[in-house]
Amino acid sequence: MERIYFSRPYLAGMEFTHLNASLASTSWHGDGEFTNRATEWLRERTGAEGALLTTSCTHALELAAILLHLGPGDEVIVPSFTFSATATAIASRGATPVFVDIEPRTLNLDPEAVEAAVTGRTKAIFVVHYAGVACDLDAIQRIADRHGLAIVEDNAHGIGASLRGQHLGTFGTFGTQSWHDTKNVTSGEGGALLINDPKYIERAEIVREKGTNRAVFLRGQVDKYTWVDEGSSYLPSDLLAALLYGQFQRFDEIQERRQHVWHAYADALPQWAQEQRVDLMHVPEGREQPAHMFYVMMPTHEDQSGLISHLREREIIATFHYQPLDSAPAGLRLGRTPSPCVITADRASRLVRLPLHAGMSKADTARVIDAVTTYRTTT
Ligand SMILES: Cc1ncc(COP(=O)(O)O)c(C=O)c1O
Repeated sequence: MERIYFSRPYLAGMEFTHLNASLASTSWHGDGEFTNRATEWLRERTGAEGALLTTSCTHALELAAILLHLGPGDEVIVPSFTFSATATAIASRGATPVFVDIEPRTLNLDPEAVEAAVTGRTKAIFVVHYAGVACDLDAIQRIADRHGLAIVEDNAHGIGASLRGQHLGTFGTFGTQSWHDTKNVTSGEGGALLINDPKYIERAEIVREKGTNRAVFLRGQVDKYTWVDEGSSYLPSDLLAALLYGQFQRFDEIQERRQHVWHAYADALPQWAQEQRVDLMHVPEGREQPAHMFYVMMPTHEDQSGLISHLREREIIATFHYQPLDSAPAGLRLGRTPSPCVITADRASRLVRLPLHAGMSKADTARVIDAVTTYRTTT
């Protein structure tokens, strides 16, 4: 029986053409022709004022932390239910990630818990749109406005996702994207910073380019470039941008294939879910999900491992997700947790993500559905 993988990068057809063209060119470094094309696509697609490709979403988050001047003594509110990257970007500046619990249905930051965690030291809120389903941005924006805090949207999962028609990543001061090969479109590793307040664009270009004003030099606006600010090297090679641009050009096709799998699960699983006391991924009205992920919430932790093993016996790879950051070794050392993140701990112990990638055939999807619906929970 052929294995159905949890995630697989999808070759959409233009990647080799652009990679060959990039390889044949005389410049492979960052900010070449393909970086420009990919960046333009990203700006158009998201509607962001500014966009910069980066080497990862983690680096885009770090770039945001530098642009916000985060430093020792500052606190930043983050969900405990996220990847380490959201928190390391804060901790790497010497600031303190403050871990807050999530809402039970969307698994996104709970606005009430955010409000309760604000102190005189809070500088920003880093939100995550889990599975590309928008967090409660209206409530979080109100809290941010009341306390003068910046919002950074970690939109690693959410290319193509929106809230009331506006692309995620364009609500906060900054948004960040990931092109890791588990994401909908990929260059293996990669990311982007979306800049929604134009006043940050010039400094963002500088920080991304080792603290130099090379970007204005490349545009012919100055005749030499020099070291003008702090920074690092966050720009990807144009070879990677060529690969990424190939994926971007086929974005609609990739999304259609992924949405097909997502909707097949959403249509076929409700009866089994109801009978087995399983909750299916919840998408509130007005929030357009990008078919990045389809998860089920099993009734017990035993059923989490039970379903994963049941599927593995049938050569289907499903998986759990984040382990709570508030109780992780580095979270305990580098962060602060004002109130126990009980929903995070509970949901992390019960969540199972099903296979979802653009290369899945109708038969693959049907096989996953058959296998899932033959699982009986322990309750
Ligand atoms: C919410 C979130 N943020 C950030 C990242 C890190 O992305 P990257 O691997 O591009 O640095 C991930 C990775 O999956 C993620 O899930």
